[in-house]
Amino acid sequence: ALVNQAYRTGYHFQPPKHWINDPNGPMVYKGIYHLFYQYNPKGAVWGNIVWAHSTSRDLVNWTAQKQAIFPSQQQADINECWSGSATILPGGKPVILYTGVDSQEQQVQNLAMPKNLSDPHLTEWIKYPKNPLMKATPTNKINGSAFRDPTTAWQGPDNVWRVLIGSRVNKRGLAILYKSKDFKHWKLGEKPLHSAEGTGMWECPDFFPVKTNGNEGLDTSARGENVKYVLKNSLDDTKHDYYTVGTYDSVKDKYIPGKGMIEGDSGLRYDYGKFYASKTFFDSEKQRRVLWGWINESSSVEDDVQKGWSGVQAIPRHIWLDKSGKQLLQWPIKEIEKLRGNQVKWPSRILEGASQLEVVGVTAGQADIEVGFEINDLKNLEVLKEKQYDPQLLCSKNSASEKGEVGPFGFLTFASNDLREYTAVFYRIYKHQNKHKVLLCSDQSRSSLNKHNDKTTYGAFVDVDPANEQLSLRSLIDRSIVESFGGKGKAVITSRVYPTLAVDDQIKLFVFNNGTSKVKISYLNAWSMNKAQIN
Ligand code: FRU
Repeated sequence: ALVNQAYRTGYHFQPPKHWINDPNGPMVYKGIYHLFYQYNPKGAVWGNIVWAHSTSRDLVNWTAQKQAIFPSQQQADINECWSGSATILPGGKPVILYTGVDSQEQQVQNLAMPKNLSDPHLTEWIKYPKNPLMKATPTNKINGSAFRDPTTAWQGPDNVWRVLIGSRVNKRGLAILYKSKDFKHWKLGEKPLHSAEGTGMWECPDFFPVKTNGNEGLDTSARGENVKYVLKNSLDDTKHDYYTVGTYDSVKDKYIPGKGMIEGDSGLRYDYGKFYASKTFFDSEKQRRVLWGWINESSSVEDDVQKGWSGVQAIPRHIWLDKSGKQLLQWPIKEIEKLRGNQVKWPSRILEGASQLEVVGVTAGQADIEVGFEINDLKNLEVLKEKQYDPQLLCSKNSASEKGEVGPFGFLTFASNDLREYTAVFYRIYKHQNKHKVLLCSDQSRSSLNKHNDKTTYGAFVDVDPANEQLSLRSLIDRSIVESFGGKGKAVITSRVYPTLAVDDQIKLFVFNNGTSKVKISYLNAWSMNKAQIN
């Protein structure tokens, strides 16, 4: 298999080499953004996990710092240092709760504190000598092999701190609750904050308030009238991040998903492609909530070892509640736009059925493109007859190369000259129960001639009505990544691709329409993206 450094990203976060997974403890401190992440200092496969650390002024350019947390305490983390979160204590003092794997291979929860608070880069971390703070005992019924990933803690109306730990009992996923007055002595809550049957192990839970009006973020301890709550879990069984929007009773310490919210596999996802173990933080500098997520690999383990690295972090996303209250919206942080270089702009034009137009003038392998599509004729839509559809399956059955009525139309990214390779991101519009149904797909089936890649196709329904609004599609393209935002952030799909022909300056970008109906491109803006300074 062809493996070279052409796949290293230009503006997505990755260290110079080796394996990475979950983002950990993101925060902003004295104007400096911090990202920690799960890292194997010894190779491109998972293992020997420590917390690597980088800092930034803008969430775009990053400086590597030394390892922040690594195995050192026999009784608390001597085997590995797994995922966790930062909490900013009153007075602005950050602390970290993380999972350690102790000498008995048990998962326990530990505390670490900065050594020097006057250093905005917080390069040194000291562990609490009495770690662990939380562990499985013969009486508390906790399973020490399914007990990990503490959230950012929040304070209830009684000023007591609360934190969640991911767990499971058989097939029931749990968000175990602990409480503390001083952040050192933690008491197991009577009941989990929430649980759901059939969802399996909950990794990396995240629990945070969102405003019901507007896109401003809230501190994790915020309460009030116009506030709802989001509970996200990373489901170990399916490797996707699912969330519900609901209410939180801070007296009974119960989270209640809102009406119609679906838990588990057919629920809402942050991202319908490769995106896992994500975590948000409140950015007090810009009054917004920011989401970090790990883009896991589609390459084979052999290829990872050969190229010397595995995994990247997605571009941080601003995240807030849609005005419908039924879902979240996500958008790449504004700062990423400063990497935009050469711009291509098209006047509005018709995209005929069965046609494709090359986007010339940008570096197709490292670009940001946004297009608005208008459909004037919605009379001849294909009809979906069954009651329910799995969007991913629908996308797999109807690939980009299959002709449709209205759609498939969208982008061919990482396209080779001869179109033997491409990754297609597209819309296709259907009629379902007399309503318009918009499907967004990311089709990797022809992304590479390398047979060893995972080329699963992804799909999502987007809650927009093309009769009333145009369909927008934005993709961040970065050498082996396509992160696509449909409906202005209503559905996101990230894919990881390793083309063999569409590499470096051989990469092309097209807008295509493989439907019978023409569609109108109302605007097209594309930019070459400059390289960020990363680590
Ligand atoms: C999620 C996860 C976490 C764990 C960490 C270990 O990807 O499995 O549950 O803390 O990664 O690296």
